[in-house]
Amino acid sequence: MNYFAYKGKELFCEDMRIADLAATYGTPLYIYSAATIKRHFSAFDTAFNGLKHLTCFSVKANSNIHIIETMGKMGGGVDIVSGGELYRSLKAGIPPEKIVYSGVGKRTNEIREALTANILMFNVESLAELERISEIAQDMGKIARVSFRINPNVDPKTHPYISTGMKKNKFGLDVTHSRIAYKRAMELPAIEPIGIDCHIGSQLTTIEPFLEALDKLLDFMDELQKMGIHISYLDLGGGLGIQYDEEEPPQPEEFGKALTEKLKHLDITVIFEPGRVIVGNTGVLVTEVLYTKQTPSKNFLIVDAAMNDLIRPALYQSFHRITPATITGRETMNVDVVGPICESSDFLARDRDLPAMKQGELLVAHSAGAYGFTMSSNYNSRTRAAEVLVEGDQAKIIRRRETYDDLIGPELV
Ligand code: LLP
Repeated sequence: MNYFAYKGKELFCEDMRIADLAATYGTPLYIYSAATIKRHFSAFDTAFNGLKHLTCFSVKANSNIHIIETMGKMGGGVDIVSGGELYRSLKAGIPPEKIVYSGVGKRTNEIREALTANILMFNVESLAELERISEIAQDMGKIARVSFRINPNVDPKTHPYISTGMKKNKFGLDVTHSRIAYKRAMELPAIEPIGIDCHIGSQLTTIEPFLEALDKLLDFMDELQKMGIHISYLDLGGGLGIQYDEEEPPQPEEFGKALTEKLKHLDITVIFEPGRVIVGNTGVLVTEVLYTKQTPSKNFLIVDAAMNDLIRPALYQSFHRITPATITGRETMNVDVVGPICESSDFLARDRDLPAMKQGELLVAHSAGAYGFTMSSNYNSRTRAAEVLVEGDQAKIIRRRETYDDLIGPELV
């Protein structure tokens, strides 16, 4: 459920007309609904009320500081994967004790920054990383709290680029190396192993792979218990999918019930790292039709948003629903919606039936709140889009459109 809906012929975000927002702020434009963000965060978080838990929003999905701040105000923590995400999260007021740091390639300066901030824990992904964190913590006179990311070798049945818990993936430690890692962690004076972690992939549309991974983690926790290692945090990562098209992912409530059933007997804090399920359907990308073009084999709508603004269709062949901002009742046409970038992979949709559009009219790409703006770039020296947050009948700009000076600023050395 989200707050993007047609009222009469006009698409609205909450009480603001999309066409008015585009006229005020220009296109391409990311528009987010604050009410939807709050609703989705709270639906996810309350699904786990039966467990001692912490919901750590995965910042990579949408890292605008105003969005992170909204999560923090609702009691959320964050899952970060870089020094940049740490910096943003602290600026947005997230308490360090609600920050977990994942990722296979943490650099020395990033580890130092996280230790200085005194975050809750590092999710460690290799033995080499453990040694590096230990050395840095010792040098700084600090104790690093860690969990190890277990790779449970479970197929999440999603796009191969966003599967992360199979043995061919670069992520986490297999069970044999996890045993070695916990033993080593117990020997290292500057390391305190407090948790166990797992994230098997993104855009999962069934619960089974989560449960399969969880069973493997629970077995391993029994083993740790026997080794005398007490685990206080169980981090189950993110990955719950959303509806882009026809898929029917489980609702957070159903997901919560299934996991609570398995975990309620444990005296442990469960951490979740949801990204997409919180913000995916809270944002849209609005774009203007620049030209219509007919070739002998295709109809193209050339729009002013491109793969640099929303790379998901090009990278994962993903589907984003596209609708006009204003309903016209015109006949539909089969079209490719493409951007101005000089690549044939630059499309938002292919072979889509849309009402005939005219130059200057607006299209809306839905479900663009997660991995939309955060994956955008300046390719073809395109300035990145503006972002607007709507709350009721108020809109506020939360990231201004980039300028040409922003493009060359770092080059003026
Ligand atoms: N935790 C870890 C360790 C992760 O690697 C990820 C996502 C998450 C949590 C959040 O997963 P979510 O709840 O959003 O599924 N760019 C791709 C998605 C990449 C996901 C990477 N890791 C896309 O646009 O589909």
